[in-house]
Amino acid sequence: MSKGNFYITTPIYYPSAKLHIGHTYCTVATDAMARFKRLQGYDVMFLTGTDEHGQKIEDKAKEAGCTPQEYVDNIVLGEGGVLDLWKLMNISNDRFIRTTDDYHVAAIQKIFKKMYENGDIYKGKYTGKYCKPCESFWTESQLVDGKCPDCGREVQDAEEEAYFFRLSKYADRVQDLLENTDFLEPRSRVHEMVNNFIKPGLEDLCVSRTSFSWGVPVDFDEGHVVYVWIDALFNYMTALGFCNDAKDGLDKFWPADVHFVGKEIVRFHAIIWPAMLMSLNLPLPKKVYGHGWLLLDGGKMSKSKGNVVDPYILAQRFGVDALRFFLLRSFPFGADGNFSNELLISTINTDLANDLGNLVSRTVAMAQKYFGAHLPEQQQVNIDMDRELVEMVCGLRDIYEAQMEKYAFQNALAEVFKVISRANKYIDENAPWVLAKNESNHPRLAKVLYNLLETVRICAGLLAPFMPDTSAEIANRLGGVTMDWDSLEDFGVLPVQVATVNGPALFPRIDMEKELAALEELSKPKSDIEIEPYATENVDFDTFCKSDFRAVKVKDCQPVKKSDKLLQFTLDDGTGTDRQILSGIAKYYKPEELIGKTLVAITNLPPRKMMGKESCGMLISAVHTEKGEEKLHLLMVDDAIPAGAKLC
Ligand code: MSP
Repeated sequence: MSKGNFYITTPIYYPSAKLHIGHTYCTVATDAMARFKRLQGYDVMFLTGTDEHGQKIEDKAKEAGCTPQEYVDNIVLGEGGVLDLWKLMNISNDRFIRTTDDYHVAAIQKIFKKMYENGDIYKGKYTGKYCKPCESFWTESQLVDGKCPDCGREVQDAEEEAYFFRLSKYADRVQDLLENTDFLEPRSRVHEMVNNFIKPGLEDLCVSRTSFSWGVPVDFDEGHVVYVWIDALFNYMTALGFCNDAKDGLDKFWPADVHFVGKEIVRFHAIIWPAMLMSLNLPLPKKVYGHGWLLLDGGKMSKSKGNVVDPYILAQRFGVDALRFFLLRSFPFGADGNFSNELLISTINTDLANDLGNLVSRTVAMAQKYFGAHLPEQQQVNIDMDRELVEMVCGLRDIYEAQMEKYAFQNALAEVFKVISRANKYIDENAPWVLAKNESNHPRLAKVLYNLLETVRICAGLLAPFMPDTSAEIANRLGGVTMDWDSLEDFGVLPVQVATVNGPALFPRIDMEKELAALEELSKPKSDIEIEPYATENVDFDTFCKSDFRAVKVKDCQPVKKSDKLLQFTLDDGTGTDRQILSGIAKYYKPEELIGKTLVAITNLPPRKMMGKESCGMLISAVHTEKGEEKLHLLMVDDAIPAGAKLC
């Protein structure tokens, strides 16, 4: 019988680049929690997905020369993409939401309209600062040294007609929620939210944009798209059928039991999310848990720093279970932790190869060697020798459970490993190889081995949420024994005449020096130059031929006011009428150095507006990354080529 329902979520990931070990951390933690709850007997809903809208994706797609939908499809569904990674990591999510799913888009439109109709969304003018990589709006006072307080990067001025959500109206209620309930954990994050965001004065939040189009359109005001965080946060409910009929489960699973989120997005989950739910009179999630970051050399992992760690490589070299285990064993979930290959290898060697692996292989091998297929029925207890181990094992499930309920994965695992160490010591204390020498000691030997096998069963059962495959393999070696939740409380569930099965070492010891050298070699860039991956899909020839590439001559080139990215080109395209193109390359060229140059443009793209100016086409550039830095070169052709010449 089900113990009840349990709904747990991860943040939905931006498919703007390949995911790294930091992203994997949160999903593995959520998976361990979901598996733990299933083990306890709950009916679990575990949701993850991808957050696919926003300017960043639109820009990336443009750079890659494809549509935003093609771009995200490739990162989500393509080889080595998000779905592949979760499959590899043995993630047991029940649903996967993409914010570009039709049902979600339609639901967001309804939700936005509801808040507009109840007066909590209103139209105004937005002036402020925008951090493009974080997709976040900031007021002047929130900036740190004039830069984005989250990522430290440059912010841009932004002014446009926009819709606002009356966040200020909910400031008191949200503060009360944070301070007087255990909605947000760990507690330290409460002070951060209240002192840094609520006390300085919560301003209304800009919730629509007009300067780009890759988002959920506001269906009652053309040209506006919904702010990506509004779109993203409601995924937790649309995936259960809120404002749509395509999905179900809202009555059963809402409110969520816990949203696991990284510390930098606690602000969105602990302030904006409850305020919007309050606006719609909806029940609030029971908890938001803000976990720490995995750091590398004390700093953030990021693609631009070129220091991201590839979970594919680690899983391939060390095994998925070892990697999952390491992530939750080595760092306290609520705080930051420093990732290193040394720590990964030493954790595998100490806990998995020496302690767990040895216990399992020694115990099973001795059972086989001394008794063959089955342990004998006649077994002799020695209370003095057995008491400490048996008592520890009997109490383990409850101690472990208490830690898991607090999301203290590291502590829960430490408890299991205390018992594993104790069991290894029990082998030495009882010296089975000595007992084996004299037949009269065989009943005692059988009991020693039985106690060890039973200890292995209970420990392996409790490790199942972290290392599902290893746990299943150990169950096989113990003759396919049960490891259900109730059985993990009672010592003595294993049949007396247990049949064991030998197998290879679960976790072979790793040679630290050799492995570090191999990893170092693998992480070396093949060259300083990196190029974008080639498209996996072909375009058909007729479609390609429709693209009208022309040589164009730069008559004038100017920076665009209030944009540190755009240049405005006036081009001779051979038609006698000037063509205007805006291009986001201000970082790479000074306008004056381009005047007179012959460039290549695609001229039959639909005109689009950028910063209020029309752009009729796109200039073609070559892009690559050099020593981790993005480089761009406009394609310049021989000046002898006349303006308007067609490229084919
Ligand atoms: N799309 C938003 C979430 C929307 S939820 C309604 C987002 N996506 S993300 O891909 O940038 O990040 C997803 C999660 O990965 C975040 O919780 C983030 O904290 C986490 N991590 C990214 N790098 C990390 C580490 N180095 N360490 C631990 N977690 C980190 O934010």
